[in-house]
This record gives sequence, C-alpha cells and structure tokens, in this order.
Amino acid sequence: MIRFEEVKAEIQQSPKVWLVTGVAGFIGSNLLETLLQLDQRVVGLDNFVTGHQHNLDEVQSVVSPEQWSRFVLVKGDIRNIDDCRTAMTFPAATDIPVDYVLHQAALGSVPRSINDPVTTNSTNIDGFLNMLVAAKDAKVKSFTYAASSSTYGDHPGLPKVEGVIGKPLSPYAVTKYVNELYAEVFSSTYGFNTIGLRYFNVFGKRQDPNGAYAAVIPKWTAAMINNEEVFVNGDGETSRDFCFVENAVQANILAACASPEAKNNVYNVAVGDRTTLNQVFFCIKDALARVDVKSTSEMVYRDFRAGDVRHSQANIDKAKSLLGYKPLFTVGEGMLKAASWYVSFFAGS
Ligand SMILES: NC(=O)c1ccc[n+]([C@@H]2O[C@H](COP(=O)([O-])OP(=O)(O)OC[C@H]3O[C@@H](n4cnc5c(N)ncnc54)[C@H](O)[C@@H]3O)[C@@H](O)[C@H]2O)c1
Repeated sequence: MIRFEEVKAEIQQSPKVWLVTGVAGFIGSNLLETLLQLDQRVVGLDNFVTGHQHNLDEVQSVVSPEQWSRFVLVKGDIRNIDDCRTAMTFPAATDIPVDYVLHQAALGSVPRSINDPVTTNSTNIDGFLNMLVAAKDAKVKSFTYAASSSTYGDHPGLPKVEGVIGKPLSPYAVTKYVNELYAEVFSSTYGFNTIGLRYFNVFGKRQDPNGAYAAVIPKWTAAMINNEEVFVNGDGETSRDFCFVENAVQANILAACASPEAKNNVYNVAVGDRTTLNQVFFCIKDALARVDVKSTSEMVYRDFRAGDVRHSQANIDKAKSLLGYKPLFTVGEGMLKAASWYVSFFAGS
C-alpha cells in the first residue's frame, strides 16, 4: 500500500484538528475538501484578499452535511497575531487545540511582488512569523507551510535539488526564502516542528482564472474556452514542472503526519517532469477537446517577463524517500480534470 493510503486510513481512524490558512484560496480549498472527506475537523483562516466564498461553497456542495459541520471559518488576517491565535483552537476560541497547521495564506505571484513589494513582504514575512509564533505558543504538533520553487532563483542546475539554491529573482522569492530561514530557526531555537513544501507550479480546480496575476494554466484555459488569443511571455520554450493540485494535497497530509526524522526539512513538491509553455497550450487544447470544447485560440508571442526563471524541474527523490510522496497524477491527467472543471465553472457563472 502506498504511504498516502496508510496515512489517510490512520487519520480517519483517529481524526485530528487541522488549521488551514488561505482556506478560501486555490490550494487551501482543495486541502479543506480532502480533509473533510477524511472526517477531519478543520479550522480555516482567510481574509479573502485573493480567496473566494464560492470556493468554500463548492467544497460544501461536495461533502456531506456532517462533514461540513466539522469546519469552522475564522475571517481574519495573518498580519494580525490575535487572528492567528484565535485560529489555534476548534471551534475558534474554545480549548480543543489544533494538531496540525497547513499554512497556505500568502500573496502569490512574482509580478504582484514586483509591483507592490511592501504588501507582499508584510503578508508573506510578517504574517508568516505571526503564524509561527502563534502555532509554537499553541504547541501544535507540526507546522507545514507553502514554500516555493522560486527559492531556486538564478541557479541554472536541473533538476532542482533541495540543498542547492541560487539568488532570488523577485521580491516574492525573497519572502519565500525568508520563510524557510525562519522555520529553520524556530526548529533549532524552540524545537518546533516545521516542514516547508516547495511547490512547483501547482494547477487544478478552483485556481483563479481572473485578474492581472492569474497563473498561466487557468488564464489560458479561460481564454481558450472563450476562443480568445493566448499571450505567451517569450518564445514558449520556457518550461515548468507543473504539478496537479491533488499531488500537493497528498504532500501536505504526508508532511503533517511525517516521522520526527523527516521534520525540520524542505521538500520539492512536483512531478519531476518538464513541460514547455508551447506544450501546455496543446495539452489544454487537447483536454478541452476531450470534454467537447473545440477551441480556435492561437498563441501570440510577446516579450519575456521580468523575474521569471527560464526552466524549472524538480528532483522529488527526497519527498519520495522521507515522506513517502508519490505523485498520483501526470500533467496530462491533471489537465483533463482541470479543463472539465473550468468548462463547468464558466458554464455556471
Ligand atoms: N499555486 C502555485 O503554483 C504555488 C506555487 C508555489 C507556492 N505557492 C504558495 O502556495 C500558497 C497557496 O497559493 P494559492 O495558489 O492557493 O493562492 P491563492 O491566492 O488562491 O490562495 C491564497 C489564500 O491566502 C489568503 N490570504 C492572503 N493574504 C492573507 C492574509 N493576510 N491573511 C489571511 N489570508 C490571506 C487569500 O485570500 C487566499 O485565499 C501560497 O503561499 C503561495 O505562495 C503556490
């Protein structure tokens, strides 16, 4: 049996209390859905700056009323330490302590951080530190946080191995690296259990297709459903290790429940493969065709974007051996699931 199946069975047998920050966002709402389906109790913390109530409504629609009753939402801001402390018990402000924190709340996007480094810094560094302090004081069992492949910065080596990083290429990358430094110091200074998950371009249902800072897959899928032009930054040969969101959910649950030897570490979370933007275009087109949407969109090439790395691909051996991580979805499989979700999302909106 793969490790994820074992861990799911263990926590279903003996349910835990989880705190998911950024719960109304893309990855946070996917974590919430899986945890509730496993009969866990979940506290969610979000200020809805990029998250949406409709993400939570959708989770409610796919779990049972009993499972939904095990979810408590704290509307609050991680930049306010009192909000972080309030979220450390279930229901909020009672004495049932949170066992595991899955910290996802942050301002994502390299371009956003270039346009507004101050807000990205206060959310991603001050907010992160507040969460660490509140979680340490609440004596949670482990603190798993969303780190980022952007930490590899300008290091040209491929595939990326956790111990070898370059210089950050954006304010966003600085914040995600500082998270790792703080987590390490909290482990060594206070004996606090942390695990950083360096996500590599996660995609899947509920990833926001709208707004100036939308990620490439939701943005292109939306454009292709509407037969609009798809804008490519650069020559389309830029590549990424695209990771379907259910792989990231698996990594979070495994990390939270990992053995003590596996804690106080950072791990790549990806598939270990590389897909160019040109390939992504045809992959989305193919996935849409399989759900009966024949897109006539064409690619339009424009300048490279500041702060973007040229190629990215993860070595996932460390997560495989220490966490028992095994990505269960390839890019193509994930794309098919994502495409069919976006088609129904736009049909319903
Ligand atoms: N999606 C990716 O490919 C990817 C890659 C690397 C790292 N990450 C990291 O994963 C995490 C989740 O990303 P996502 O793609 O789900 O983004 P998202 O924007 O969909 O979710 C982030 C959530 O955090 C909430 N939030 C932001 N600031 C907050 C604050 N001050 N207080 C409380 N809540 C706040 C937002 O409202 C949102 O619901 C982030 O930390 C991001 O940096 C994501």
